[in-house]
Amino acid sequence: MAYQNLISELKDNILYITINREKALNALNKDTLAELADVVAFAGKTEEIRGVIITGAGEKAFVAGADIKEFSDYTGKQGEELARSGQDLVFNAIENSKKPFIAAVNGFALGGGLELAMACHIRIASENAKLGLPEVTLGLIPGYGGTQRLTQLVGKGKAIEMIITANMITAVEAEKIGLVNYVVLQTDLIGKAEEILNAIKQRAPLAVAAAIKSVIASINETDGYDTEIKEFGKCFETSDFKEGVTAFVEKRKAVFLGK
Ligand code: CAA
Repeated sequence: MAYQNLISELKDNILYITINREKALNALNKDTLAELADVVAFAGKTEEIRGVIITGAGEKAFVAGADIKEFSDYTGKQGEELARSGQDLVFNAIENSKKPFIAAVNGFALGGGLELAMACHIRIASENAKLGLPEVTLGLIPGYGGTQRLTQLVGKGKAIEMIITANMITAVEAEKIGLVNYVVLQTDLIGKAEEILNAIKQRAPLAVAAAIKSVIASINETDGYDTEIKEFGKCFETSDFKEGVTAFVEKRKAVFLGK
């Protein structure tokens, strides 16, 4: 399939998706999200696809988050809509897919980038990867399921610390707290993902799908996601959000006033 912001390739029953906006550190703008929604749906309905590997173009970033420049003047309503459609069409669609998704985290996985990796069923990080949810530096909170999935993966204490400090952690720290399954050399990243999918390919496809569905059912907290969507929208109404985004664009430190 031909996309503008993704490279998608099907080989040996594995669909390889590369987010391809290297100059913007593979940030997820609207067009990329729409293409991701399309390719995720394609993976779900194409029988010969037995697993999916998602990675980012280049050696610096998996995905550095949602495209900040695109939503700098959003209203609360638009923020809510962004989070809701993103969650429905991409992040929840990946998590609820019948096909196993592996995130090959080849560098920065920040904000929406870490949320994308967390929506996948398995995460492998390269040694140089840095992971974090820096939204509060912009006067925002995660909006693509991050508050829920990080808590599910690492527990409430670590999740709150990571989200409200906005600190990034290394791949090795991420493995220690259960945020990634493996840490490997960058050159071995795709090979490790293929090794796992090749093992899964030996298993019964319907059972694999049923197992994924059952595990996800055990953690499905609909109210939590809804709260996040509404709070994400509200952030767009604050002055601190405007300050955070302006400071990012002007490459200076933000001065927050708590309003
Ligand atoms: N959105 C848009 N553009 C981005 C971006 C993003 N999330 N992240 C990086 N870029 C762009 C930069 O603006 C820059 O573009 P220009 O060359 O045109 O100026 C280019 O990518 C390279 O980035 P830097 O020059 O900043 O690279 P660096 O090595 O100095 O820093 C970084 C790397 C620490 C990852 C830094 O780019 C950064 O902090 N990025 C933003 C991370 C972030 O805040 N992500 C959360 C977004 S909000 C979100 O995701 C909400 C949600 O949950 C839905």
